[in-house]
Amino acid sequence: MSQPGVLPRLIAPVANYPTFVAGSALVVAAPAKLNLFLEILGKRPDGYHDLESLIIVVDLFDTLEVGSGSPGTITLTCDPPIVSAGSDNLVMKAALLLRERAGRPEMGATLRLQKRIPLQAGLGGGSSDAAVTLVALNEFWKLALTREQLAGMAAILGSDVAVFLTPPAGWCTGRGEVVTPESVGRVLHFVVVCPPVGLATAAVYGQLVVPQTPIAGVAVREAVRAGDPEAVGRALFNRLEDPAFRLAPIVEQQRRRLGSLGPCGALMSGSGSAVFAVCRSREEAVRVAAEFRRTRPAGEPDSRVLVVRSFAPDPA
Ligand code: C5P
Repeated sequence: MSQPGVLPRLIAPVANYPTFVAGSALVVAAPAKLNLFLEILGKRPDGYHDLESLIIVVDLFDTLEVGSGSPGTITLTCDPPIVSAGSDNLVMKAALLLRERAGRPEMGATLRLQKRIPLQAGLGGGSSDAAVTLVALNEFWKLALTREQLAGMAAILGSDVAVFLTPPAGWCTGRGEVVTPESVGRVLHFVVVCPPVGLATAAVYGQLVVPQTPIAGVAVREAVRAGDPEAVGRALFNRLEDPAFRLAPIVEQQRRRLGSLGPCGALMSGSGSAVFAVCRSREEAVRVAAEFRRTRPAGEPDSRVLVVRSFAPDPA
């Protein structure tokens, strides 16, 4: 991701996402995620569900550009303007929360968000944007808040914001905000299919039947630690598939068709509507993606098909 005239820099130790300094602006990449496992443990008195999920971060990015602004003024623009740039946008909420918690109302910034991650797809785009806003403004405003302090704010912003502070993967519990970082033994390769219909998370949870006996995620955690795509493929599971499939049958059709093309396995991500295949190599992912596009049945809507990979394992 290096560009001429732009100095690459990492904002470790909070998160190792590609970051650039362009003049006085900071540009941070906000990655998408895939849920390789998602089980529901029960419904809580606050209306949320306790869950267990293995989330892995992949190299499909929105980008957030942070520049200086008038003192006390934070502005946000979105390109393309497919999401609101107002105070209901998670980026704006994250910026305001961070500034308030840091007790620095005089801080200002100009934020520009470039959206590439499809919306309502279960790929975590809005959550990731919020997480990198915390990370980038912590750096830009020189607040020196710790990862734990940022994780506390992430939990307020949404259930799966905090996981983006600990790439390359996390085991998420509670309503999703309690994150145990996971290692990924070897880079994993995926095909992601985004149908032209989105699914609202709350609507999918609304259709859910909570299981009597939840499935355990031990096998998927071991498979990811080993970086073994065959074992990951065998351990894939998402309790939200059934309710999402009822709301949008195209999601089930696409998951089945993707799974029939020979990858290690296929699954819906999060609350949908995107589905993905786990592949043995980049070459296999490219082949499966091409085959998926080529064999589209008459009447099935055209979908975005992407080849992505997980982040490199942390150097030991
Ligand atoms: O936390 P977030 O804003 O992402 O959640 C969106 C909606 O999804 C919640 O309002 C709730 O209806 C549902 N949800 C849930 N249990 C979770 C996460 C989300 O019921 N663990």
